[in-house]
Amino acid sequence: MDILLFGGSFDPVHNGHYSILETALEYKKFDKIIIMPVGTPGHKDGCKVPFAIRKLMAETAFSKLGVDIEVSSFEGESTEKSYSYITVDHLKSLYPDGNIHFVIGADSAINMHRWVRWEYLAQNVTFLVFARDFDDWDEINQAVENIRKYSPDTTVLKSRVVPVSSTQLRETIAAGGDVSQWIDSDVEKIIKDNNLYVADYYARNLGTARLLVPLMLREKRARHTFNVEKLAARLAEKYGVDVNKARLCALLHDIMKQADEGIMLHRAIQSDIIDRIKDKPVPVLHGFAAADYAAKEMHIDDSDTLMAIKSHTCGRAGMSDLEKVIYLADMLSEERSYPEKENLLQLAWTDLDIAMEQALTDSINWLKEKNGVIDADSYAALEYFTALNHHGGN
Ligand SMILES: [Fe+2]
Ligand SMILES: [Fe+2]
Repeated sequence: MDILLFGGSFDPVHNGHYSILETALEYKKFDKIIIMPVGTPGHKDGCKVPFAIRKLMAETAFSKLGVDIEVSSFEGESTEKSYSYITVDHLKSLYPDGNIHFVIGADSAINMHRWVRWEYLAQNVTFLVFARDFDDWDEINQAVENIRKYSPDTTVLKSRVVPVSSTQLRETIAAGGDVSQWIDSDVEKIIKDNNLYVADYYARNLGTARLLVPLMLREKRARHTFNVEKLAARLAEKYGVDVNKARLCALLHDIMKQADEGIMLHRAIQSDIIDRIKDKPVPVLHGFAAADYAAKEMHIDDSDTLMAIKSHTCGRAGMSDLEKVIYLADMLSEERSYPEKENLLQLAWTDLDIAMEQALTDSINWLKEKNGVIDADSYAALEYFTALNHHGGN
């Protein structure tokens, strides 16, 4: 079974990627084509757009090749740093008879000796090295000769020159330029409709988050999220809180709620000091995981935003007005119905601190009835608001 493996950031996917795949398909017929968008390394120069969206763009562009492709989540959803040899081991376990043809660029071939366990990797794949006319062919041939010691069938294919890179495309989009010449029209529509890569912080992050919600959450939870956004925006306006910031927190507050539990826990641990996380009841951890997602996948580093996402389930003493707005909008979103809701809604429109005291009392009582575990931060928050409302904060 011949498997083609094509990895990359696809941030965004463009005609250069498409042309590489086309050339590979002209060279050989494959039984399976696996596209592997990389995960988001947790540093600033990582991918600009979350994995789920890069996956969507890759699926959209490559589905037009008219062959069956699979866009894999293996690296994108991994909680560890990914290495190609681990990905290949994984594919080998799925397809023990698979003969993996691994697409790499000329630069990668030249720098292969720097890859972790490259000899082992080479023993397990056949590389398809894509080089362009203007590349240094002497250097490439020398590198390929070295690789062939471990992967004897490694082949060099000449790629059509598509003089564009994802970095250039992102810069052009940020500057308001036209990229239609380099990008599939449906991918371009996704980018345009959702303000991906634009320079403005809120236009970009709100657009990206709105596209993410239905990709990461099932219908009911997505509807809840959009309802929280609506109410948070109205409450923010009333109480003089930055409306865009409130919208962004609302859109991201539950983004990890339906993630694989291992990934959710891993992200929660990454989000804060481990001692703070380890005593928390599991149901509140999705907020912490969502803050880690916002920081790592969307590069949001505003501490107020991250804190409001974190505290949306448990609350905490000393909450900011933004945090109160998100906490209350989450409890009072349109689709929810419970006996105390009307009263709480009225309080939310009258006084944030009194509403918070009531909201915490209601949710602690509700948890007690259900024999749920109550987070120490929720008790501390209730104490804080009770003192604030009745004793002037002492
Ligand atoms: Fe939540
Ligand atoms: Fe929620």
